[in-house]
Amino acid sequence: MTDDDALARLREMQTADLPVHGGRTLAYVYDSGLPDVDRIGREAVAAYAGSNGLDPTAFPSLLQMENDLVGYTADLLDAPADAVGTVTSGGTESCLLAVQGARDSRPDVERPRMVVASTVHAAFLKAAHYFGVEAVVVPVGPDFRADAAAMLAAVDEDPDRTVLVVVSAPSYAHGVIDPVTEVAPAAAARGIRCHVDACIGGWVLPFAARIGRDVPPWTFAVDGVTSISVDTHKYAYAPKGTSVLMHRSPAHRRPQYFAHADWPGYTMLNSTIQSTKSGGPLAGAWAVVQSLGDAGYERLTREVFEAVDRIVAGVAAIPELTLVAVPDSTLVAFVTDDTCDAFTICDEMATREWYVQPQMSYAGQPPNVHLSVSAATLAHVDEFLAALAESVAAAVAVGPVGVDPGVAAFIETLDPATLSDDDFDGLLAASGLVGGGEGLALPDRMAEVNAMLDLASPAMREALLVAFLDRLARPNR
Ligand SMILES: Cc1ncc(COP(=O)(O)O)c(C=O)c1O
Repeated sequence: MTDDDALARLREMQTADLPVHGGRTLAYVYDSGLPDVDRIGREAVAAYAGSNGLDPTAFPSLLQMENDLVGYTADLLDAPADAVGTVTSGGTESCLLAVQGARDSRPDVERPRMVVASTVHAAFLKAAHYFGVEAVVVPVGPDFRADAAAMLAAVDEDPDRTVLVVVSAPSYAHGVIDPVTEVAPAAAARGIRCHVDACIGGWVLPFAARIGRDVPPWTFAVDGVTSISVDTHKYAYAPKGTSVLMHRSPAHRRPQYFAHADWPGYTMLNSTIQSTKSGGPLAGAWAVVQSLGDAGYERLTREVFEAVDRIVAGVAAIPELTLVAVPDSTLVAFVTDDTCDAFTICDEMATREWYVQPQMSYAGQPPNVHLSVSAATLAHVDEFLAALAESVAAAVAVGPVGVDPGVAAFIETLDPATLSDDDFDGLLAASGLVGGGEGLALPDRMAEVNAMLDLASPAMREALLVAFLDRLARPNR
């Protein structure tokens, strides 16, 4: 291809993707709605795309940017004067490192465990899996907030092996803030680290408090909070690829470092999982934060909360819908009554060019619709609510989605641990996840597939979707 052809082809391929601007994609992306912010972010990423964050002495400008960004974050999080932080590649890496650091801060513990609320992000279960830390998952209370007493009771079952307690501000699924003041000081009293996962709320809640909204305490101002994760690629509206992991003190961060000099090459010294890492995302985040500053974020926070308040009121006015919880932040989740279903509503919204995210049933909670609201959505809230009302009416008209009883019975008999590749292929075909012709394709409407997955156990869902993704990810040759 010529250079122009390659770039044209990229633009063409990208038309298949969800739009990242325009405020109509209410998952995965966070849109300030400000073209200049997008432009400066993109230009900064491009300018630093080839720089390598592996060695801050070779690329001192990256160190300068990281220290600036961490300093700005520290102020947002009420961090003490000697707090330190690291810019990572995203929320999951920050959560992974919080767990790895906690584990390695206790080399005396042979079989480390951590106590987490059942609403913590799946990244913590990934960390448990990667780092051999047992995750003790404690059900949340009826308001979807961590049950502090139950978490502490779980800690006390084996305090000597417990290296970490994790709560969220807010949790992804329900958008509520855990009772950090009840958990963190009690963890500290037992000499145990407490991580607050504010990946999604960390950049918006401090500004929400500044503009006078009611925000329960969750920052380093709470005694016993030892680390906090905050994603700049979410509500700092920066390009994808950065998050900040803050620690209360340098001693808390120390076990996060990996150093290796005992080989014939350069001494490898890393504060993150990546070693070579593009300077692009860091430069993009730095530039966007410089450009928006406190005033910009306060304005965007007013906008996003005005959008949230109007969406909450609009959802409450649709008789078939009920909010899962009154949101503490910018995430909204709602369930339906039995005249319709969440999955069909998601499909209907998609036909109206709104992307909203289905969440499966969990622990007795029915499937629901999840929105990550961006500042850019404010300009389109009336249109969103009109589309939602139409989508609900359309979903009521067709009635709740069903699953073929034969498929449902078949799924019940399956054990994901013993399924063969052929079994997976049969089930993928039966479930509609396999398209004709070119092989795999997603159907236009996902309600039937989602309803089928919703019937399956979480382990079966995992197995099916892994099998599906595995078949999607095959080289074009
Ligand atoms: C609370 C929370 N923690 C962690 C993550 C993981 O972040 P990432 O997708 O950037 O890896 C998310 C993502 O939505 C989140 O909401």
